[in-house]
Amino acid sequence: MTNLMSNFRRATAVMLVTAGVAGIGTPSQATSRSTETRFAAGAAGSGDPYFPNAGNGGYDVLHYGLDLRYTPPSDPSVLAGKLSAAATITLRAEEELEALNFDLRGLAVTAVRVDGKDTGWTQTQDDANRVWEVTISPKPKLKAGREATIQIEYGGNTGRPVDTTGALYGWVTTADGAIVVNEPDGAATWYPVNDDPEDKATYTFAVTVPEGKTAVANGLPDGRPQTKDGWTTWSWEASDPMASYLSTAGIGNFALSYDEGPGGLPIINAIDADVAGQALTQTSASLALQPQMVAFLEDRFGRYPFEAFGATVDDDSVDYALETQTRPVYSGAASEGTVVHELGHQWFGNAVSPADWQDIWLNEGWATYIEWLWAEHRGTATAARQFTDAVTLLDANNRWALNIADPGRDNLFAGQVYLRGAAALYALRAKVGDDAFLEGAREWLDRFDGSSATTEHFQAVMEEASGQELGAFFNDWLREGDRPAMP
Ligand code: TRP
Ligand code: ZN
Repeated sequence: MTNLMSNFRRATAVMLVTAGVAGIGTPSQATSRSTETRFAAGAAGSGDPYFPNAGNGGYDVLHYGLDLRYTPPSDPSVLAGKLSAAATITLRAEEELEALNFDLRGLAVTAVRVDGKDTGWTQTQDDANRVWEVTISPKPKLKAGREATIQIEYGGNTGRPVDTTGALYGWVTTADGAIVVNEPDGAATWYPVNDDPEDKATYTFAVTVPEGKTAVANGLPDGRPQTKDGWTTWSWEASDPMASYLSTAGIGNFALSYDEGPGGLPIINAIDADVAGQALTQTSASLALQPQMVAFLEDRFGRYPFEAFGATVDDDSVDYALETQTRPVYSGAASEGTVVHELGHQWFGNAVSPADWQDIWLNEGWATYIEWLWAEHRGTATAARQFTDAVTLLDANNRWALNIADPGRDNLFAGQVYLRGAAALYALRAKVGDDAFLEGAREWLDRFDGSSATTEHFQAVMEEASGQELGAFFNDWLREGDRPAMP
């Protein structure tokens, strides 16, 4: 729920698509601040080097209450749905704000209220520059430190959005509903958001769908589904702080099933009724291991960080898996390795998130290393063997050339980020020893639980735990363009 301030300013050449409530013009920018005006517009971007326009400045979101009514495609061969929604966002101003922004992509705002009062807004959408902003001008202006409740009504048609690399993400319309996989900047495809992994918040979801469909989201159910006039509302509550890229909702012909992890951890799985045959056999076997996987990781990394776990498994045409908080999403068959990978992210990535997108190896390296540990535990392959195999893959095609501590926007999920990241952790363990490595890992999780941190923070924690200076080590294993000396 913290938010890093920055000096980022929105590009000015944006196309105006809508403006609400007469008499409210384009909000003045902070740059036009005069000495007697304390109030200014919050920044329209987080300033992340890869996604400068995602996220916003000047406030800290505490809670998102999302009320979504969704009509799945009427013709399953045309993947278009309809969303009609209201977001109730509780935030705390961190600056004297005369205007503030949310990110919202491809959906139109129809009303805004601040603390119950109709308020003006403008909406800009510039796809070429990836600028998708709703700018709200509260009257009275918001004083720093003050809490406010912003209600935004919005809606529109949904399709199949893609990220900067062309990969499917965000609110993905499927033949029987929708699946949501936001990472990295797709949350804005379904709700107005401060889309910055540094601003975590709690969430509630009320998802209204045609009777017969099931809707799931992060966290735990909040009461039984309620049906009225052919529509059923499914309520979910996620009470652990969550980065927006980890929020999810799934709508479809899901069957819910229940299991329990260590200490009574509720496990809720939602499996698409169309997942069948070999895919269902493999997926069911992987999901049945979830309680054991949680126990295995708790032994090494400390208590599972959230209130619930489970899976949403869909049968969309594209295969993907994402570590959405408490309830990873899988499409197609979920292998054992993939399930333990997404579970590992609950500690590494979700409880402690990357402060900037360039820190992504802290997510993918750890989740891949955890796959190695699990396979070793299961007797499939030793960690040493998997490390050697990874190095062999990295040796081919000049793959050491990629600096995984700053891989570039379109290489966030390149194979090297996973393999070199996991190899770096393996080599770190060999260098500092088991005790310092595990102590450092636990300290990292403890110190930054519920927030975000950088590669530099990680190095500092590992240096404390080991008493060794690790600058040269991390340069060799993350950044340098050639193969490091092997442990
Ligand atoms: N983080 C995912 C993993 O566990 C990869 C991923 C990134 C992804 N963005 C996505 C998956 C969007 C599905 C959709 O490796
Ligand atoms: Zn991953």
